[in-house]
Amino acid sequence: MSILIVGGAGYIGSHVNKYLNREGYDTVVVDNLCKGHRESVRWGEFLQGDIGDIDFMNEVFSSRRIEAVMHFAAFAYVGESVIMPAEYYKNNVVKTMTLLDSMMNNGVNNFIFSSTCAAFGEAVEIPITEFHVQNPINPYGFTKLVVERLLKDYDRAYGLRSCIFRYFNASGADPETEIGEWHEPETHLIPIIFETATGKHQAVNIFGTDYPTTDGTCVRDYIHVYDLAEAHKLGMERLISTGISDHYNLGCGKGFSVREIIDIAGKVTGKAIKTSEVKRREGDPPVLIGSMQKAESLLKWKPQFSLEDSISTAWKWYLKKEKI
Ligand code: UFG
Repeated sequence: MSILIVGGAGYIGSHVNKYLNREGYDTVVVDNLCKGHRESVRWGEFLQGDIGDIDFMNEVFSSRRIEAVMHFAAFAYVGESVIMPAEYYKNNVVKTMTLLDSMMNNGVNNFIFSSTCAAFGEAVEIPITEFHVQNPINPYGFTKLVVERLLKDYDRAYGLRSCIFRYFNASGADPETEIGEWHEPETHLIPIIFETATGKHQAVNIFGTDYPTTDGTCVRDYIHVYDLAEAHKLGMERLISTGISDHYNLGCGKGFSVREIIDIAGKVTGKAIKTSEVKRREGDPPVLIGSMQKAESLLKWKPQFSLEDSISTAWKWYLKKEKI
């Protein structure tokens, strides 16, 4: 039996793929390579194709024994989703529905879904628990919430079981530096800081300095990508053994402002990072910090990597990727 990882050539999916293989699982990766990189899939079987192509997906399922599907094949830029929502709804919702059809056509009913803390919107209470109201403020968060709701209905009506993970800010890289964060173009804060440290940009644009936070910049909860990978394994195993759908927030329970991240990254890289204060980016909530209590008690999961670990593994990977 294999685990099918769709979107396994992307940032989080490629780390989960490596992690599962190291833990003794057989994996099959499906990715259309519109964002992901073939070089990031170095473990398991690789098939290039689109989850929105029902014939292709039926063929993937009918010719293999797939026990569970992990779904990472989504567009995930908050800012971009505000500018091009149609692409986000088509890719993140419509194609996910086709993927679920192909699973059900082939009798596969264990689904692990990458959702996001962006599905909560502005935090009413910190840390954000699984009971927090979900009221997204950007199209990206909405696309994920739509699928979360749909999964509840599919569970009741069709017996499709799911494990939903709402990630806070994924960060860091494989400590063995074989894979890491690789977006084109890059928009995420930590790699943008590295690009600035190595002269690709004049300065890091700080999006908004008038937020209701201690230093006026947005606060996020940065979680190492391997901690996310471990949670996926534990969540999948629990889903398969209990047959009960559930959902978990995956964060560290600690927030860092944009300015704090720039300071720490400056120390890790040993470089002075220039900054420029610009207006807020649309769609950004001021503070997102996750509670990890539910995942800790039910999955026996606890983040192992610190923020410094995340930034230093990401820096090592960045230097390797850029051949510096
Ligand atoms: N930021 C800057 N300057 C930049 C880039 C980012 O100030 O050049 C700020 C953003 O405004 C935000 C914070 O840094 O406040 C983090 O931004 P990222 O772009 O690194 O990450 P996001 O929080 O926007 O999004 C990421 C994932 C989403 C996920 C979200 C959860 O890309 O998929 O984390 O918070 F939903």
